[in-house]
Parts: sequence; C-alpha cells; structure tokens
Amino acid sequence: MTPIKRRRSILSVPGHRETMHQKAAPCDADVIMLDLEDSCPVDEKTRARATIRASIRTLDWGDKTLTLRINPVDTPYALRDLLEIIPAAGSRLDTVVVPKVESAADLHFVDRVLTSLETEAGIERPIGIEAIIESAKALRDADAIAAASSRLRCLVFGIADYSASIHMPLTSVSGHGENDGVYPGDPLHFVYGRLIMCGKAAGLQVIDAPHGNFRDPEATRIAAHRSRALGFDGKWAIHPAQIDILNQIFSPDEEEIARARQVIETYEQAKAEKKGAAAIGGSMIDQASLRMARDVMARAGIQ
Ligand code: GLV
Ligand code: MG
Repeated sequence: MTPIKRRRSILSVPGHRETMHQKAAPCDADVIMLDLEDSCPVDEKTRARATIRASIRTLDWGDKTLTLRINPVDTPYALRDLLEIIPAAGSRLDTVVVPKVESAADLHFVDRVLTSLETEAGIERPIGIEAIIESAKALRDADAIAAASSRLRCLVFGIADYSASIHMPLTSVSGHGENDGVYPGDPLHFVYGRLIMCGKAAGLQVIDAPHGNFRDPEATRIAAHRSRALGFDGKWAIHPAQIDILNQIFSPDEEEIARARQVIETYEQAKAEKKGAAAIGGSMIDQASLRMARDVMARAGIQ
C-alpha cells in the first residue's frame, strides 16, 4: 500500500519572524508553512522574503513538508515572491500555497511560473501547489480549481476570508471557527462537504482551517475531531500548542487500528470461503468496509 504523505498538522509561521522559524524547525508538525501573506505586514514583505530564503537554506527542517504561502496572484507581490524564493529554495521547498484562488487560471499562472523557474534553476522534483478556497466564487468553482494543475496536492479551507466573502457576522473573536452557538447546527457544514467532495474527487488531500482560540486545547480537540469525522486530512495550527492535539486526532488510535485489523482478517477469511460479505457482531462488512479498514492502516503507516 502506498504510504500517505501525512499533513495532519500544518503550522503557519509569519515569514518575517526569524525566531519563530527557529522554533518551528524542530517541532512535531508534519508541515511548516512560511507565510508571506496575511500574517506578514505589507512593509515587511521584502525583508520577509530574505528571511525565508535564509531559513530554508540554513535551518534543519528534518523530513517535514515545507511550504510557502505567497500573496494572491492579483497583488503586486505574488510574482516577486516566486521569483525571489523558488530558485534560492531549490528542491527543499515542497509546495507553494496559493491564497484567494478565484479560478483555475490563477493556478495555471503559478504552474507556468514554477515550470520556468524550476527549469532555470535545475530543480528536478516538481514543486507542488496547494490552493486555498476562501471565497464564494472559489467554492462554487472548486471542482475546476481542483483539476487545474497536476502540481496540486491539496485544497485548503480559508475560514476567515470565506466568512468575510459571504458577509457572515463576526460573532466570535477571530472568525477562525470558534463555535459561537448562534446558528443551530454548523453554519459551514455545506462548505466542508463541497470542499471535501471536490478535493477528493480530484485525488487531493483536503485541509481544514485552524481553530482560532489556541489557548483552548479542548475546543481545538473538538474542532479537529469534527474535521476528521468529515474526511479532512489535517488542520492548520496557528500556535505550536495545537500541534500534538492535531497529530493525535488525525492519526488512527489503537482501537481504530484493532477494528481495522479485525475487518481485514474477517473479510479475508470470508473471501477464502468464497463469500462476498461477512459479519462482526451484528454488523455486516463487505468490500467497502475493507477499503475503509485499509485506509486506516495506511494512515497509521502500517503496511
Ligand atoms: C486563512 O487564510 C483564512 O482566511 O482563514
Ligand atoms: Mg485567508
């Protein structure tokens, strides 16, 4: 079974904060995202590019996935972000995260620029792309966006910008998924479903937005459980304190692994007896149950 490239926890780090890069390098997040967009003030963007270049080259990132969030493609910064970082980062950079994607054309642009820069710099492993879906238009066109480039690895939900784009009231402090209880149910349920459907249909991973209140581990845990239950592969973190919680929740636990093993063994036995289905307790299992069980094993890194 092909091992899954895990993206359980994605720590977002402001591009201009060198000391945060130093703290992030040895942490346990699966992915570090160096950010040139919204956590980096406009008058810090130039310095941030130099800081990011130095951090990518000099810090030991271990086997973490390293990503760079550029600015939206319609700003005066995005092209320069790519020109100034991609050749210097070489093959250590895994993906470019493109925020505020509005159409497949935005990703065609990034794809072509990456091809040109990779060729010029002799980078052999193609750099991937992650698309943040954070407007009503992007959500509507998420299927076309998800199919826009062979470089695409994930769709990511940008909860705050999405909420702003549809004029949701700011009923919580940050707008980053703290449940305010105003709406009976989850006001973003449809959004999650559509995003997951479009991403998975294109063979991509789908990543949820961070939980805004990093001082509340229990709320982070509940939010992460909900994300995983829906089919998300991981979740952004805005603070190192959230990483262990995410790694734990997005990994199958022992009970889940034991259940998956039992399903696989029972099904294999039924197959040997030329039966298409079997039962564990009072529950029917069939080939679909087998697929789910194998997915659990792959996520647990068990061959
Ligand atoms: C992230 O980019 C967000 O808008 O929530
Ligand atoms: Mg955003």
